[in-house]
Amino acid sequence: MKMEEKTDDVPLPSHQPVVGILFNCKRDTNGEIPDAEAEYDSMETVYAIRDALDSFGIRTVLLECDKTLPEKLAAAHIDIAFNIAEGRSGRGREAETPALLNLLGIPFTGSDETALCVALDKALCKRLLSSYRIRTPKSRVFLKEGDIRTGGLRFPVIVKPNAEGSSKGIPDVCVASDEGELRTLAGRSLKLYGGPVLAEEYIAGREFTVGLLGNGEALRVFPPMEIVFRKNTDRDYRIYSFGVKQNYQNFVDYECPGRLTRAQAEEMTKTARRVYEALGCRDFARVDFRLSDDGRLYFIEINPLPGLAPGYSDYPMLAEFSGMPYQELVFSVLNAGLSRCGWRR
Ligand SMILES: Nc1ncnc2c1ncn2[C@@H]1O[C@H](COP(=O)(O)OP(=O)(O)O)[C@@H](O)[C@H]1O
Ligand SMILES: [Mg+2]
Repeated sequence: MKMEEKTDDVPLPSHQPVVGILFNCKRDTNGEIPDAEAEYDSMETVYAIRDALDSFGIRTVLLECDKTLPEKLAAAHIDIAFNIAEGRSGRGREAETPALLNLLGIPFTGSDETALCVALDKALCKRLLSSYRIRTPKSRVFLKEGDIRTGGLRFPVIVKPNAEGSSKGIPDVCVASDEGELRTLAGRSLKLYGGPVLAEEYIAGREFTVGLLGNGEALRVFPPMEIVFRKNTDRDYRIYSFGVKQNYQNFVDYECPGRLTRAQAEEMTKTARRVYEALGCRDFARVDFRLSDDGRLYFIEINPLPGLAPGYSDYPMLAEFSGMPYQELVFSVLNAGLSRCGWRR
């Protein structure tokens, strides 16, 4: 690394950056809900990120984002945080760590707290993107049991927690074919996961995910990857559910680039880029799509903090399909953050 030319009065550091890896890890609480900790990272992922940066000679410090984080940050003297912290609770949880880092004036990789919060609230994000004319399935949000009704939605309807990720709260049976089933599934979700429930028209068809890396002119969009559902289950609906993600080797194949016409691939990458920019995302993200049987592209959700578990998460898989190994991907995310903040290799 070398110092970028000084362009203003802010003194830029003249040493190699010390990188804090900021995370919330799984606790293995063995609770009654099997996917309760689905969003948190395992220490294997944290170590994989550390080892990746280590292979480029970057010094790292591991910092768990708990209540003692402010003291730990004061002692660690990091130059930049590699943030993968999911936060502890509430729909603003992914903002906890970025907001603290902003308060302390510590730069960090990835999107800011506003982008993270908007993306985590699926209904809010869909509403925002509709104003950019990005097609997304019609949906309703239920805050309590008394709210649950069809309200103009066309069945089948998928039921999912409004502000979770990693398919938390998306079991294999999560699609309602009438109002009775909708009440049962949405009621169950409200009880188990507490927060608002999103009921969304189910888009039959194919599923794709698109990875983005970098910023501005240097933004790179990886070719869409198709999640191809094997025909080895008797289920009526093809869902990338919690169970399927846990046992992906048995249920899905990944095809990258996905079999698409040039126009379809272009529409997907262009839409992913528009979503990324509309939300003001930074450094990296992953966007999920469904392509309906009649050829319409639907935005499902964006993950501005996509999982980085090697050999499991879709984002590193996407990069690998494009010839970018895990170590290089992690280093590139860091570099995207560093150059945004004024460092240059
Ligand atoms: N409207 C929908 N139509 C069809 N399938 C959907 C729809 N919404 C979600 N799914 C399925 O459920 C999976 C998880 O939903 P998603 O909104 O991406 O939640 P998460 O944030 O947990 O990944 C998707 O990958 C897809 O397979
Ligand atoms: Mg998803």
